[in-house]
Amino acid sequence: MHNKLQQIKKEAEERIKTASSLEALRNYRVEYLGRKGEITAVLRSLKDLAPEERAAVGQAANRVKDHLEELIELKTQELNARALQERLLQEKLDVTLPGTPRLSGGKHPLTLVREEIENIFLGLGFEIVEGPEVELDYYNFEALNMPADHPARDMQDSFYMSDEVLLRTHTSPGQVRTMEEKNPELPVKIIIPGRVYRRDDDATHSPMFHQVEGLYIGEGVTFADLKGILMLFAHKIFGQDVTVRFRPSYFPFTEPSAEMDISCVICGGIGCRTCSNTGWLEILGSGMVHPNVLRAGGYDPEKVIGFAFGMGVERIAMLKFGVDDLRLFFDNDIRFLAQF
Ligand code: FA5
Ligand code: MG
Repeated sequence: MHNKLQQIKKEAEERIKTASSLEALRNYRVEYLGRKGEITAVLRSLKDLAPEERAAVGQAANRVKDHLEELIELKTQELNARALQERLLQEKLDVTLPGTPRLSGGKHPLTLVREEIENIFLGLGFEIVEGPEVELDYYNFEALNMPADHPARDMQDSFYMSDEVLLRTHTSPGQVRTMEEKNPELPVKIIIPGRVYRRDDDATHSPMFHQVEGLYIGEGVTFADLKGILMLFAHKIFGQDVTVRFRPSYFPFTEPSAEMDISCVICGGIGCRTCSNTGWLEILGSGMVHPNVLRAGGYDPEKVIGFAFGMGVERIAMLKFGVDDLRLFFDNDIRFLAQF
Protein backbone atom coordinates (compact mmCIF):
# COMPACT_ATOMS: atom_id res chain seq x y z
CA MET A 1 0.00 0.00 0.00
CA HIS A 2 2.78 2.34 0.94
CA ASN A 3 4.61 1.71 -2.32
CA LYS A 4 1.46 2.29 -4.28
CA LEU A 5 0.95 5.69 -2.59
CA GLN A 6 4.55 6.69 -3.35
CA GLN A 7 4.07 5.68 -6.96
CA ILE A 8 0.87 7.70 -7.30
CA LYS A 9 2.58 10.68 -5.65
CA LYS A 10 5.58 10.53 -7.96
CA GLU A 11 3.49 10.25 -11.08
CA ALA A 12 1.08 13.02 -10.03
CA GLU A 13 3.93 15.37 -9.07
CA GLU A 14 5.56 14.90 -12.45
CA ARG A 15 2.34 15.52 -14.37
CA ILE A 16 1.32 18.57 -12.35
CA LYS A 17 4.76 20.18 -12.64
CA THR A 18 4.80 19.85 -16.41
CA ALA A 19 1.13 20.72 -16.94
CA SER A 20 0.77 23.29 -19.73
CA SER A 21 -2.82 24.38 -19.20
CA LEU A 22 -5.36 25.09 -16.50
CA GLU A 23 -7.60 22.50 -18.09
CA ALA A 24 -4.96 19.76 -17.65
CA LEU A 25 -4.65 20.74 -13.97
CA ARG A 26 -8.40 20.47 -13.49
CA ASN A 27 -8.30 16.98 -15.01
CA TYR A 28 -5.46 15.88 -12.70
CA ARG A 29 -7.36 17.11 -9.68
CA VAL A 30 -10.31 14.93 -10.68
CA GLU A 31 -8.04 12.01 -11.51
CA TYR A 32 -6.23 11.97 -8.16
CA LEU A 33 -8.34 13.86 -5.66
CA GLY A 34 -11.85 13.66 -7.08
CA ARG A 35 -14.64 11.43 -5.79
CA LYS A 36 -13.36 8.57 -7.89
CA GLY A 37 -9.75 9.69 -7.79
CA GLU A 38 -6.80 7.45 -6.97
CA ILE A 39 -5.97 8.98 -3.59
CA THR A 40 -9.63 8.95 -2.65
CA ALA A 41 -9.68 5.26 -3.53
CA VAL A 42 -6.74 4.61 -1.21
CA LEU A 43 -8.51 6.44 1.62
CA ARG A 44 -11.67 4.43 0.97
CA SER A 45 -9.80 1.16 1.06
CA LEU A 46 -8.44 1.82 4.55
CA LYS A 47 -11.29 -0.15 6.04
CA ASP A 48 -9.93 -3.29 4.37
CA LEU A 49 -6.56 -2.93 6.05
CA ALA A 50 -5.40 -4.45 9.23
CA PRO A 51 -6.14 -2.05 12.12
CA GLU A 52 -2.42 -1.61 12.93
CA GLU A 53 -1.68 -0.55 9.37
CA ARG A 54 -4.76 1.72 9.00
CA ALA A 55 -3.52 4.79 10.91
CA ALA A 56 -0.11 4.97 9.23
CA VAL A 57 -1.45 4.52 5.69
CA GLY A 58 -4.32 6.93 6.35
CA GLN A 59 -1.90 9.63 7.55
CA ALA A 60 0.42 9.07 4.58
CA ALA A 61 -2.48 9.22 2.11
CA ASN A 62 -3.73 12.49 3.65
CA ARG A 63 -0.25 13.98 3.48
CA VAL A 64 0.00 13.08 -0.21
CA LYS A 65 -3.46 14.54 -0.73
CA ASP A 66 -2.55 17.89 0.91
CA HIS A 67 0.76 17.94 -0.94
CA LEU A 68 -0.90 17.46 -4.33
CA GLU A 69 -3.57 20.10 -3.52
CA GLU A 70 -0.78 22.53 -2.79
CA LEU A 71 1.13 21.66 -5.95
CA ILE A 72 -1.99 22.14 -8.08
CA GLU A 73 -2.68 25.50 -6.42
CA LEU A 74 0.90 26.73 -7.02
CA LYS A 75 0.88 25.54 -10.61
CA THR A 76 -2.48 27.22 -11.21
CA GLN A 77 -1.06 30.54 -9.98
CA GLU A 78 2.00 30.10 -12.16
CA LEU A 79 -0.07 29.38 -15.29
CA ASN A 80 -2.37 32.34 -14.59
CA ALA A 81 0.59 34.67 -14.17
CA ARG A 82 2.17 33.44 -17.37
CA ALA A 83 -1.10 33.86 -19.30
CA LEU A 84 -1.44 37.47 -18.05
CA GLN A 85 2.18 38.17 -18.93
CA GLU A 86 1.67 36.90 -22.46
CA ARG A 87 -1.51 38.88 -22.93
CA LEU A 88 0.15 42.07 -21.74
CA LEU A 89 3.05 41.57 -24.12
CA GLN A 90 0.64 41.01 -26.96
CA GLU A 91 -1.73 43.87 -26.16
CA LYS A 92 1.02 46.35 -25.28
CA LEU A 93 -1.60 47.91 -23.06
CA ASP A 94 -1.74 47.78 -19.31
CA VAL A 95 -5.36 48.36 -18.42
CA THR A 96 -4.43 48.49 -14.74
CA LEU A 97 -2.45 51.73 -15.17
CA PRO A 98 -4.22 54.93 -14.07
CA GLY A 99 -5.63 56.94 -16.99
CA THR A 100 -4.19 60.17 -18.36
CA PRO A 101 -6.45 63.07 -17.44
CA ARG A 102 -7.46 65.20 -20.42
CA LEU A 103 -6.68 68.90 -19.89
CA SER A 104 -9.52 71.11 -20.99
CA GLY A 105 -8.49 73.96 -23.29
CA GLY A 106 -9.36 77.62 -22.96
CA LYS A 107 -9.48 80.71 -25.09
CA HIS A 108 -6.34 82.78 -25.60
CA PRO A 109 -6.46 86.03 -23.56
CA LEU A 110 -6.36 88.07 -26.79
CA THR A 111 -9.36 86.14 -28.11
CA LEU A 112 -11.23 86.81 -24.86
CA VAL A 113 -10.51 90.54 -25.11
CA ARG A 114 -11.35 90.73 -28.82
CA GLU A 115 -14.70 89.03 -28.16
CA GLU A 116 -15.42 91.40 -25.28
CA ILE A 117 -14.68 94.41 -27.51
CA GLU A 118 -16.88 92.97 -30.26
CA ASN A 119 -19.76 92.37 -27.86
CA ILE A 120 -19.66 95.93 -26.52
CA PHE A 121 -19.89 97.36 -30.05
CA LEU A 122 -22.51 94.84 -31.17
CA GLY A 123 -24.53 96.10 -28.21
CA LEU A 124 -24.16 99.67 -29.55
CA GLY A 125 -25.53 98.66 -32.96
CA PHE A 126 -22.24 98.13 -34.83
CA GLU A 127 -21.82 95.33 -37.37
CA ILE A 128 -18.64 93.19 -37.66
CA VAL A 129 -16.85 93.06 -41.03
CA GLU A 130 -13.40 91.80 -42.04
CA GLY A 131 -10.70 92.72 -44.52
CA PRO A 132 -7.60 91.07 -46.03
CA GLU A 133 -4.31 90.95 -44.10
CA VAL A 134 -2.32 91.09 -47.36
CA GLU A 135 -3.43 94.46 -48.65
CA LEU A 136 -2.92 96.80 -51.56
CA ASP A 137 -0.85 99.93 -50.99
CA TYR A 138 -3.89 101.77 -52.36
CA TYR A 139 -6.21 100.82 -49.46
CA ASN A 140 -3.54 100.82 -46.74
CA PHE A 141 -2.21 104.32 -47.59
CA GLU A 142 -3.34 105.99 -50.81
CA ALA A 143 -7.12 105.91 -50.26
CA LEU A 144 -6.50 107.03 -46.66
CA ASN A 145 -5.08 110.32 -47.85
CA MET A 146 -1.47 109.14 -47.60
CA PRO A 147 0.12 109.44 -51.05
CA ALA A 148 3.46 107.73 -51.78
CA ASP A 149 5.65 110.60 -50.53
CA HIS A 150 3.63 111.28 -47.37
CA PRO A 151 5.85 111.50 -44.24
CA ALA A 152 3.20 109.75 -42.08
CA ARG A 153 4.06 106.51 -43.88
CA ASP A 154 7.30 106.42 -41.88
CA MET A 155 5.38 105.70 -38.67
CA GLN A 156 3.95 102.53 -40.17
CA ASP A 157 6.81 100.76 -41.91
CA SER A 158 5.67 97.35 -43.05
CA PHE A 159 6.54 94.12 -44.82
CA TYR A 160 6.20 94.43 -48.58
CA MET A 161 5.46 91.65 -51.10
CA SER A 162 5.97 94.13 -53.94
CA ASP A 163 5.71 97.89 -54.39
CA GLU A 164 1.94 97.54 -54.56
CA VAL A 165 1.26 94.73 -52.07
CA LEU A 166 2.05 94.70 -48.33
CA LEU A 167 0.95 93.28 -45.00
CA ARG A 168 -1.56 95.84 -43.74
CA THR A 169 -0.17 98.11 -41.02
CA HIS A 170 -3.57 98.88 -39.53
CA THR A 171 -7.22 97.87 -39.96
CA SER A 172 -8.06 101.29 -41.47
CA PRO A 173 -7.93 100.01 -45.10
CA GLY A 174 -11.21 98.28 -44.20
CA GLN A 175 -12.83 101.72 -43.94
CA VAL A 176 -12.67 102.45 -47.68
CA ARG A 177 -13.31 98.81 -48.63
CA THR A 178 -16.51 98.83 -46.57
CA MET A 179 -17.63 102.20 -47.89
CA GLU A 180 -17.13 101.02 -51.48
CA GLU A 181 -19.26 98.00 -50.72
CA LYS A 182 -22.05 99.75 -48.81
CA ASN A 183 -22.45 103.08 -50.60
CA PRO A 184 -24.92 104.74 -50.81
CA GLU A 185 -26.25 102.94 -47.73
CA LEU A 186 -26.45 104.98 -44.48
CA PRO A 187 -25.55 104.84 -41.69
CA VAL A 188 -22.35 102.83 -42.02
CA LYS A 189 -21.72 101.54 -38.53
CA ILE A 190 -19.09 98.83 -38.47
CA ILE A 191 -16.10 97.44 -36.60
CA ILE A 192 -13.21 95.55 -38.25
CA PRO A 193 -11.20 93.22 -35.98
CA GLY A 194 -8.01 91.63 -37.30
CA ARG A 195 -4.27 91.11 -37.41
CA VAL A 196 -1.89 93.87 -38.54
CA TYR A 197 1.89 94.07 -39.08
CA ARG A 198 4.62 96.66 -38.54
CA ARG A 199 8.38 96.98 -38.24
CA ASP A 200 8.11 97.33 -34.42
CA ASP A 201 9.52 95.27 -31.54
CA ASP A 202 9.63 96.12 -27.81
CA ALA A 203 7.66 95.61 -24.56
CA THR A 204 4.60 97.45 -25.90
CA HIS A 205 5.13 96.98 -29.66
CA SER A 206 4.97 93.69 -31.52
CA PRO A 207 5.66 93.12 -35.26
CA MET A 208 2.28 91.37 -35.44
CA PHE A 209 -0.58 92.64 -33.33
CA HIS A 210 -4.34 93.07 -33.39
CA GLN A 211 -6.54 96.05 -33.93
CA VAL A 212 -10.25 96.70 -33.94
CA GLU A 213 -11.24 99.46 -36.35
CA GLY A 214 -14.47 101.38 -35.94
CA LEU A 215 -16.34 103.49 -38.50
CA TYR A 216 -19.58 105.40 -38.05
CA ILE A 217 -20.80 107.47 -40.99
CA GLY A 218 -24.18 109.13 -41.09
CA GLU A 219 -25.87 112.50 -41.21
CA GLY A 220 -24.99 114.89 -38.39
CA VAL A 221 -22.51 112.63 -36.58
CA THR A 222 -20.33 114.82 -34.32
CA PHE A 223 -17.08 114.72 -32.38
CA ALA A 224 -19.23 114.52 -29.25
CA ASP A 225 -20.58 111.18 -30.54
CA LEU A 226 -17.00 109.97 -30.98
CA LYS A 227 -16.10 110.93 -27.39
CA GLY A 228 -19.34 109.56 -25.99
CA ILE A 229 -19.02 106.17 -27.68
CA LEU A 230 -15.32 105.75 -26.88
CA MET A 231 -15.67 106.79 -23.23
CA LEU A 232 -18.62 104.47 -22.83
CA PHE A 233 -16.49 101.72 -24.34
CA ALA A 234 -13.57 102.49 -21.98
CA HIS A 235 -15.82 102.33 -18.93
CA LYS A 236 -17.47 99.10 -20.09
CA ILE A 237 -14.19 97.33 -20.66
CA PHE A 238 -12.11 98.78 -17.76
CA GLY A 239 -14.81 99.69 -15.24
CA GLN A 240 -16.29 103.01 -14.15
CA ASP A 241 -13.22 104.05 -12.14
CA VAL A 242 -10.74 104.17 -15.01
CA THR A 243 -9.22 107.50 -15.99
CA VAL A 244 -9.40 108.29 -19.71
CA ARG A 245 -7.84 111.18 -21.60
CA PHE A 246 -8.12 112.39 -25.20
CA ARG A 247 -4.93 113.88 -26.60
CA PRO A 248 -4.84 115.95 -29.84
CA SER A 249 -3.06 113.98 -32.51
CA TYR A 250 -2.57 113.67 -36.22
CA PHE A 251 -3.67 111.09 -38.77
CA PRO A 252 -3.82 111.91 -42.51
CA PHE A 253 -7.22 110.19 -42.70
CA THR A 254 -8.98 112.05 -39.88
CA GLU A 255 -9.43 115.73 -39.10
CA PRO A 256 -9.46 116.60 -36.26
CA SER A 257 -7.70 113.60 -34.68
CA ALA A 258 -7.30 112.42 -31.11
CA GLU A 259 -5.59 109.55 -29.35
CA MET A 260 -7.19 108.02 -26.27
CA ASP A 261 -5.01 107.03 -23.30
CA ILE A 262 -5.86 105.02 -20.19
CA SER A 263 -4.06 105.57 -16.89
CA CYS A 264 -1.36 102.91 -16.55
CA VAL A 265 -2.62 100.07 -14.36
CA ILE A 266 0.85 98.55 -13.96
CA CYS A 267 2.25 101.51 -11.97
CA GLY A 268 -0.98 103.32 -11.10
CA GLY A 269 0.11 106.38 -13.11
CA ILE A 270 3.48 106.98 -11.42
CA GLY A 271 5.49 105.97 -14.49
CA CYS A 272 7.14 102.66 -15.38
CA ARG A 273 8.72 100.72 -18.24
CA THR A 274 5.32 99.75 -19.65
CA CYS A 275 4.04 103.33 -19.97
CA SER A 276 7.48 104.78 -20.84
CA ASN A 277 7.35 106.75 -17.56
CA THR A 278 4.35 108.82 -18.68
CA GLY A 279 1.72 107.22 -16.45
CA TRP A 280 -0.51 106.70 -19.50
CA LEU A 281 -0.90 104.00 -22.10
CA GLU A 282 -2.25 104.80 -25.56
CA ILE A 283 -4.98 102.39 -26.60
CA LEU A 284 -6.46 103.96 -29.70
CA GLY A 285 -6.32 106.58 -32.39
CA SER A 286 -9.46 108.32 -33.62
CA GLY A 287 -10.91 111.32 -35.41
CA MET A 288 -13.51 112.68 -37.80
CA VAL A 289 -13.19 110.95 -41.20
CA HIS A 290 -11.28 113.16 -43.67
CA PRO A 291 -13.31 114.38 -46.69
CA ASN A 292 -10.82 112.73 -49.07
CA VAL A 293 -11.44 109.35 -47.43
CA LEU A 294 -15.22 109.73 -47.71
CA ARG A 295 -14.73 110.58 -51.38
CA ALA A 296 -12.51 107.53 -51.93
CA GLY A 297 -15.33 105.42 -50.51
CA GLY A 298 -17.90 107.02 -52.84
CA TYR A 299 -19.64 109.26 -50.28
CA ASP A 300 -20.20 113.00 -50.64
CA PRO A 301 -18.42 114.86 -47.80
CA GLU A 302 -20.89 117.73 -48.24
CA LYS A 303 -23.73 115.41 -47.24
CA VAL A 304 -22.35 112.87 -44.79
CA ILE A 305 -19.92 112.98 -41.91
CA GLY A 306 -18.49 110.39 -39.58
CA PHE A 307 -15.84 109.31 -37.14
CA ALA A 308 -13.38 106.43 -37.06
CA PHE A 309 -11.09 104.84 -34.52
CA GLY A 310 -8.50 102.07 -34.35
CA MET A 311 -7.61 100.36 -31.08
CA GLY A 312 -4.81 97.96 -30.12
CA VAL A 313 -6.16 94.70 -28.67
CA GLU A 314 -2.84 93.77 -26.94
CA ARG A 315 -2.68 97.14 -25.17
CA ILE A 316 -6.21 96.69 -23.87
CA ALA A 317 -5.43 93.13 -22.75
CA MET A 318 -2.26 94.35 -20.94
CA LEU A 319 -4.24 96.96 -19.05
CA LYS A 320 -7.16 94.65 -18.28
CA PHE A 321 -4.99 91.82 -16.97
CA GLY A 322 -2.06 93.84 -15.60
CA VAL A 323 0.48 92.27 -17.97
CA ASP A 324 3.66 94.36 -18.22
CA ASP A 325 5.11 92.87 -21.42
CA LEU A 326 3.05 92.36 -24.56
CA ARG A 327 5.40 89.62 -25.82
CA LEU A 328 4.06 87.27 -23.11
CA PHE A 329 0.90 86.90 -25.22
CA PHE A 330 2.93 85.31 -28.02
CA ASP A 331 5.42 83.13 -26.08
CA ASN A 332 2.88 80.29 -25.81
CA ASP A 333 3.92 79.51 -22.23
CA ILE A 334 1.06 77.44 -20.83
CA ARG A 335 1.79 78.69 -17.27
CA PHE A 336 1.00 82.21 -18.49
CA LEU A 337 -1.95 81.33 -20.73
CA ALA A 338 -3.66 79.10 -18.14
CA GLN A 339 -4.22 82.14 -15.88
CA PHE A 340 -6.99 83.62 -17.99
C1 FA5 B 1 -3.48 103.65 -36.30
O1 FA5 B 1 -3.11 102.51 -36.61
C2 FA5 B 1 -4.66 104.27 -36.95
N1 FA5 B 1 -5.07 103.47 -38.08
C3 FA5 B 1 -5.77 104.38 -35.91
C4 FA5 B 1 -6.90 105.20 -36.39
C5 FA5 B 1 -7.99 104.58 -36.98
C6 FA5 B 1 -6.88 106.60 -36.25
C7 FA5 B 1 -9.05 105.35 -37.43
C8 FA5 B 1 -7.93 107.36 -36.71
C9 FA5 B 1 -9.00 106.73 -37.28
P1 FA5 B 1 -1.73 103.92 -34.37
O2 FA5 B 1 -0.51 103.69 -35.17
O3 FA5 B 1 -1.63 104.91 -33.27
O4 FA5 B 1 -2.95 104.35 -35.26
O5 FA5 B 1 -2.18 102.50 -33.75
C10 FA5 B 1 -3.42 102.34 -33.09
C11 FA5 B 1 -3.26 101.51 -31.82
O6 FA5 B 1 -2.64 100.27 -32.13
C12 FA5 B 1 -2.30 102.15 -30.81
O7 FA5 B 1 -3.00 103.06 -30.03
C13 FA5 B 1 -1.83 100.97 -30.03
O8 FA5 B 1 -2.80 100.60 -29.07
C14 FA5 B 1 -1.79 99.88 -31.06
N2 FA5 B 1 -0.46 99.61 -31.61
C15 FA5 B 1 0.23 100.35 -32.51
N3 FA5 B 1 1.40 99.78 -32.81
C16 FA5 B 1 1.47 98.62 -32.08
C17 FA5 B 1 2.42 97.55 -31.97
N4 FA5 B 1 3.53 97.52 -32.69
N5 FA5 B 1 2.14 96.54 -31.11
C18 FA5 B 1 0.99 96.54 -30.41
N6 FA5 B 1 0.05 97.50 -30.49
C19 FA5 B 1 0.28 98.53 -31.31
MG1 MG C 1 -0.70 106.05 -32.11
